[in-house]
Formats: sequence, structure tokens, C-alpha cells
Amino acid sequence: MTAGPAFDEVDLSTMAFWSTTAAERERSFAVLRRERPVSWHRPLENPLLPDAGGGGYWAVVRHADVVAVSKDPQTFCSGRGVMYGDAPPELLEASQSFLAMDAPRHAKLRRLVASAFTPRRVATIDAQIRAQARAVVDELVERGDCDAVEHVSRRLPMWTISEMMGVAPEDGDAFAAMANRLVAAGDPEIAGDSDPLTVVVECLMGLTRMALELAAARRAHAADDLMSALVAAEIDGDRLTDAEIGAFFVLLAVAGNDTTRNTISHSLVALAAHPDQRRLLREEFDVRIDRAVEEMVRWATPVMTFRRTATRDVELHGVPIAEGDKVVLLYSSANRDEHAFVAPERFDIDRDPNPHVGFGGGGPHFCLGFFLARTQLRSIFDELLHRVPDLEVGEPEYVPGSFIHGVKRLPCRVGDHL
Ligand code: HEM
Repeated sequence: MTAGPAFDEVDLSTMAFWSTTAAERERSFAVLRRERPVSWHRPLENPLLPDAGGGGYWAVVRHADVVAVSKDPQTFCSGRGVMYGDAPPELLEASQSFLAMDAPRHAKLRRLVASAFTPRRVATIDAQIRAQARAVVDELVERGDCDAVEHVSRRLPMWTISEMMGVAPEDGDAFAAMANRLVAAGDPEIAGDSDPLTVVVECLMGLTRMALELAAARRAHAADDLMSALVAAEIDGDRLTDAEIGAFFVLLAVAGNDTTRNTISHSLVALAAHPDQRRLLREEFDVRIDRAVEEMVRWATPVMTFRRTATRDVELHGVPIAEGDKVVLLYSSANRDEHAFVAPERFDIDRDPNPHVGFGGGGPHFCLGFFLARTQLRSIFDELLHRVPDLEVGEPEYVPGSFIHGVKRLPCRVGDHL
């Protein structure tokens, strides 16, 4: 690993930076995109793992480079961690599943679960997702003004994951609570008096226990759900171990929840702030929704960063990156890159083409749940736009952090409804 050159004067590593708004961060990204597409930064301030810095990292901020790095896993691997800092290996093992693996193990495990996420398979639960979206909006209408994160955004993703995995309805709340605490453990409001790492470990243990109980139940009696498929699946004659099943369950609890939830919240804000776009979408919903959903994901960029590690010495824009160096992909910046998007600062539901990297820059780790996420977003906005057309939102309260672009609270006013 190199000591690296001097740290860049644009500092992406402070909690203060990741506690501002996306618009403010974009000002820094714009400077880097223009002047220093590959820049060296001091270790991220990490309240979760204060000693996890490990030297520093290269920030990749241009769209074309995020795509190129994502598509070159031989040079930029995931197996040495995908978060900024170095977490203890046992924590990674228990939580990130094949997200933090390389070929051939990644490909094997991904192939095994991919069948649950094909468009055909998602189409079979499409009617249930629509019914659930309808139920969410029924309850919203009945409740009236409330926090949209709690009563709209978080409901559908959590329900879908629980349903796909086969979590019993009575365990749904516990599952949701642990998944939420796990990703927000760095937030003092969530951790309370506990040390954030303790919260992470507790949630990981709780979710793993839940996964293993479910696995045991499905080994005894198979059902039509993902857990039954996981316990029965064989790759090259091997079954998944309990640890692998547990880690995959945790990965889905996080990957399938926070992402769609925050896309919904950011999109509620965007649609309320752009009434012309909201009207267009409502008037010609079927024609416009597919493109609108892509724009919602670009706009929100709920996953802001992932990391890779260089497996050999390599150059990017003439900058020497040494074997072992950390390379951070800044999706938030790539999704505002003026070389990839016309007027990237504009929320445009008809944007076409829209080569956003919200689901990743391509390559082997491209989001497995993208089709499911699109289906969920389509269903919830169908209900919301047609039945609560004038839904107004107040000031969003954001979750500080460099990984998930989170909205903690979003007051909403329901107004007239159908
Ligand atoms: C708007 C919603 C979503 C966004 C923006 C999103 C974003 C992402 C991103 C950026 C990655 C990493 C891509 C890469 O490294 O190249 C990823 C991976 C992944 N996502 Fe999603 N995601 C969403 C919804 C979902 C849902 C609903 C599920 C499942 C139910 C899901 C499951 C996964 C899994 C399993 C991976 C790991 C894939 C691998 O490593 O091979 N995601 N997602």
C-alpha cells in the first residue's frame, strides 16, 4: 500500500461533510469531477469504527470512471471490503454475504439466489406488491397528516422482503426494527446510550438467529419462499452453510430495505417540489412511470458509495494507484456528472437516456433487486399519485453518513384524497 500523495484539499472524509445536504456535497464533487477525477483522501471519520481508517483512499467521482472500475473486478476487487473503513472480518462475513466477495465464490452464491429475482419471478408477486401498496395508502388516508417515512416509505420494502424470505407476519416488526437499527447504528438517536458497535453486533446476532430459525423450519417443511429455496439449493454439490444463509438474510434485510425506502422519501420531496413533473406523471402515468422511476433512483442515489481495492498497480487518469489501495466509487457524484447527463441538476421524469449508476456501475455486483425495486416504486407512486394527488411534504430530516442517503423523518400533509 502506498502512503499516497498529500490529502486532497476538498475533504470528503469528515462527518460534517456527510451531514450536509446532497446539494452542498455536489458543489465539492463538481470541483473534483472537473479538476481532479481521482483524488487521495484521509481516512473517513467513522463513528462506528473509530480506528478503522487504514491509510486513506482514492475517490472516483466521474460517471465514466465509476462504470469502468465497476466493470473491472479483476483490478478492483470487492473481496477485501466494500465499505470505506476496514471492519473486523467476522463482522463483514456476518453481514455482507456475496456483496463483499469476488469470483468464483461470488458468482456461485449470486447464481444461487438470482432465480428469486428474475422479472418472471417478480411478476408472480406483482399483484401482492400492488395490493400491499394499496393497503399502505389506505392507512395513510385514514391516518391523515403524519411522518411519511414511518407510514409510507418504509412499509412496502419491508413487507416485500419479509414476504419473499418467508418471515412470519408476527416477526415482521422485530425484523424491521433490527434491520433499521443495523444501518443507522451510527446515529446517536438510534444507538441511545449504547456504543454503536454493540448495536451492530446485537442486530447482526438477532437477524442471524431469525434466519437460522427460519432455515430450520423450512428444512422441516418447505414453503414457496426464498428461504426454502436457499436451504434446498446446491452449488457444485455443496449446500449453503448456516453462516452463508445468515449473511445473505442480513444482506437482503439491508439492501432491499433502506434503498427503496429512501428512494420513495426523496421522490416524495422531489415531486412536491416540482408540481409540473408531478402533474405530468399523474396525467400520463402508464406512459411515463418507467422513465420516472429511473429518474427517481438517479435523483435519490440512496446508495452513495461503495469501495473496491486495487489488486495490482494501475493508473487512472495518469494517477498511480498501488496494489492494496482503497478506491471509493462516489455514485452520488457520478449521477450528477455533466458529461453523462443533460442538465443533471434538473429533476426530469422524462429523462432519456438516463444511464444512472444508482443500481451500480455495471459489472458482477450490479444490484440484484433492481427489477423488484422498480416494481415497488411503480406500485406505490401509482397509488399515491392517483389517490393522494396533492400530498405535501415538509422539511426532510436527513440521516448523516457516507453510505446511505437516508431520510429519517418527512412530515406530510395528506389534503384531499380519493
Ligand atoms: C432503489 C432501490 C435500490 C438501489 C438504489 C440499490 C442499489 C444497489 C447498489 C448500488 C448495489 C451495488 C452495485 C455494485 O457494487 O456494482 C446493490 C447491490 C445489491 N442489491 Fe440493490 N438496490 C436497490 C434495491 C434492492 C432490492 C429491493 C434488493 C433485494 C430485495 C436488492 C438487493 C441487492 C443485492 C443482493 C446486492 C448485491 C449484489 C452482488 O453483490 O452481486 N437491492 N444494490
